[in-house]
Parts: sequence; C-alpha cells; structure tokens
Amino acid sequence: MKYLLIFCSVLLVSACVQQTISYKEIEHRTDASKDMVKAFGGKLKGKLQAAMKSGGPIAAISVCNEQAPLIAKELSEKSGWDIHRTSLKPRATKPDAWEKRMMEAFEKQKEKGDGFKRLFVQDIAEANGKPAFRFMQAIETKQVCLVCHGENIAPAIAAKIQELYPQDTATGFKLGDIRGAFSIVQPLDEE
Ligand code: HEC
Repeated sequence: MKYLLIFCSVLLVSACVQQTISYKEIEHRTDASKDMVKAFGGKLKGKLQAAMKSGGPIAAISVCNEQAPLIAKELSEKSGWDIHRTSLKPRATKPDAWEKRMMEAFEKQKEKGDGFKRLFVQDIAEANGKPAFRFMQAIETKQVCLVCHGENIAPAIAAKIQELYPQDTATGFKLGDIRGAFSIVQPLDEE
C-alpha cells in the first residue's frame, strides 16, 4: 500500500512537471546540455594533456584533483546549472539514485552494441528534492585514462591516488569501457 501511494504521487508529480515543459523546450535544453558537455570535456582534456606532457602522471593527478572540480564549479556558476561527472565506480563523486539507474542503462545499451554517441539520456526527474531537467552522457575510457583508471597502475601513481582518495573505486577499467558520465541538472523553477 505504501509503495502504491509513493508510486501514485510520483506519477502525479511527473504529470504536473511535464505540463510545464514542451517538447521544443526539452530539445533546446538537450542541445544546450550537449554543448556544455563538449565545453566541459574540452577544458578537462586540455588541462589533462598539458599536465601529462609537462609534469607526468603524478603532477596530472593534482590537476585532476584541483582543476576538475574547479572547472565544473566555474561552468556551474556561469550557467546556473549543476555540472559534474560521476561513475558507477567513482573516485570522487558518487551518483544519486537517478544517475545510477541511467548509467546502469548505459551499460546495458553498450552490451547490446550501442556506440558512445547513443549513450546519453534526458529526462524530467527530481534532483535534491526538486523537479529538474536532467541530462547524462557516458564517457569512454581511452588509452590515456588507463594510467590512472586502468588495471595495472604504476605503484607511485597508485600511492598518490590512495593518499588523495582513500575510498577510490575508479580503477580496473579497460579500453572502451564506460568510465562514467557527465551529469547536468537544469533547475526548472528558474529562467
Ligand atoms: C593523471 C591521472 C588521471 C588520468 C590520466 C585520468 N584521470 Fe580521471 N580522475 C583522476 C582523478 C584524480 C579524479 C578525481 C577528480 C576529482 O576530485 O573530482 C578523476 C575523476 C574522473 C571522473 C569523475 C568520476 C569519479 O570517478 O569521481 C571521470 C568520469 C574520469 N576521471 C574520467 C577520466 C577519463 C575519461 C580519462 C581519460 C580521458 C581520465 N579520467 C584520465 C585522475 C585521472
């Protein structure tokens, strides 16, 4: 009975929320999210490549540790959205229930043969107790990522990661795995 009540109220909430947002707006918000992911990913890639080249992987860990959250914060402040990365096996940022469900669905899609281009999703769903437009896009594990997220991590790098992230679970990935996902929350009560 309790579950039926919860189920009905979820239906009611989503029905109410959906009325406030048209297909056109969903399309617009999806496109804007994709652009934001490109901007975020591009900035991260630039910083990571520069750091790996100039100081090697140990220095690059500090860049990921300091710069990744900083870039996410700057873009979030500029846009008024919450922009971050997360993973089913996180190093720093654990997923919420919705994010976990979406990433599990990405894994299933990938098993069935979908390429990374198709591994994104948009929905109206709650985030921190409020209805929001949410967007997620999977992130592919490339060769360079294996240095810090792969199966055979050099001892000095593993030690540095362990020091900064004692709860780390973001290792053991193989080339082409889903490393995690970009996640964007656009509040619906603003704009
Ligand atoms: C030099 C080491 C290093 C390399 C190389 C590296 N990462 Fe990371 N990665 C980190 C660190 C450190 C964090 C935690 C950052 C933070 O505190 O937000 C992280 C976090 C992440 C996260 C956020 C989710 C989580 O686990 O908390 C994703 C997604 C991610 N990395 C993907 C990648 C991908 C994709 C590549 C390759 C293009 C890559 N990383 C290369 C060190 C690295």
